[in-house]
Amino acid sequence: MKILSIETSCDDTAISIMNAKRSTTSTSFTVLANNLNSQIDIHIPYGGVYPVLAKREHNKNLPIVLEASLIQAKLNKKKKPVDAIAVTYGPGLEMCLWEGISFAKDLAQKWKVPLIPVNHMEGHLFSVFGKDKGKFTIPNSTSSGQAKIKLPALCLLVSGGHTQLVLIKKPASTKINLGWPIDYKIIGETLDDAVGEAFDKVARMLNLPYPGGPQISKLAEEERKHLKELEDFSGPRFSGSLPQPDHEKSSNSFNAKDNDPEKISFSFALPRPMLHSKDFNFSYAGLKTAVLYLIQKIGPKETLSEEVKSKIALEFENAAIECLVYKTQKAIEKYEIKTLIVAGGVAGNIHLKREMLAMAGKNIKVLFPAKGLSGDNALMIGIAGYLN
Ligand code: KG4
Ligand code: ZN
Repeated sequence: MKILSIETSCDDTAISIMNAKRSTTSTSFTVLANNLNSQIDIHIPYGGVYPVLAKREHNKNLPIVLEASLIQAKLNKKKKPVDAIAVTYGPGLEMCLWEGISFAKDLAQKWKVPLIPVNHMEGHLFSVFGKDKGKFTIPNSTSSGQAKIKLPALCLLVSGGHTQLVLIKKPASTKINLGWPIDYKIIGETLDDAVGEAFDKVARMLNLPYPGGPQISKLAEEERKHLKELEDFSGPRFSGSLPQPDHEKSSNSFNAKDNDPEKISFSFALPRPMLHSKDFNFSYAGLKTAVLYLIQKIGPKETLSEEVKSKIALEFENAAIECLVYKTQKAIEKYEIKTLIVAGGVAGNIHLKREMLAMAGKNIKVLFPAKGLSGDNALMIGIAGYLN
């Protein structure tokens, strides 16, 4: 069965076409086309996604991306080229979602094929099984053998709009059993900002371009490497001054004249909000505000030196990710989790991946999206659409 999928929940216009085949133990997908038109350049001057512009771009680009995808998949748009259409219905920017939904509806009517609404976050969850080209197979959670996805599984969804811990306990008991549980329970989520949103806002405070997540991540990684080199060279230079894991509050003994990276590394620590709360929830607004206060003390963002920016980026990333890893670990212990899935735009963060793999150890299977599939894409919508 051929499935065409459409994703327009934010600032990417994405379409994919796959051929899906089901067996008793797994589902195999062949990617026939996978295209994405990114609007990043258009939104950079606004420092974030400007919804009216995003809607206009989706409207303009959807027919173009469709045409390219059908040509790539060697399908004729005049005949019925696919057997079903999957489309993101939410969550996302409403006016952007409607562009994709109306486009998908028109195509479904024209080709007389069913339309499958897909939840964007469920799409992210299934992204970990995909590849952006060629073939891939998703084993059933109910099948046996090595490839089996063992339950209970836990999924950490981290994007620009969400930070959720989702528990996947038992296989679905639907009549047509595609082998995947549609039985999810959200056991924890952010009480305010999403983690990706915090990355983007902190990046803006540091005068870094949109989207800020990858920019912060790049600066932090370089700074981490730099500190490691210094440490290898002269011993643990910063011991005792870096924030401790139970550091829920921020501290900064910062002096307004100290725009000096050497002093800053010794003089501030950002908070790890809700690290020891008894639930699985998160909070990122306080961490973001702590960065704001720190920057206000140092001076106007336009005057921050590259070194200062790097040190703030590193400490912010450490704090943000420590909260994710710690709460995930607690949930793994409580629910005796066998498979951990980490997905969403922030799953592309190198430090998050490294820390999660180290925390999970050898006994838990950890799945991250393949390169190109952590951010928004249509392929994940096609997978979730088919399995639904
Ligand atoms: O899933 P996604 O592409 O869109 C939403 O559904 O929101 O996630 C986008 C978010 C943005 O906030 C972006 O800054 C963040 O993911 N992001 C990152 C990284 N790459 C993307 N955050 C931290 N580190 C990264 N490497
Ligand atoms: Zn997303």
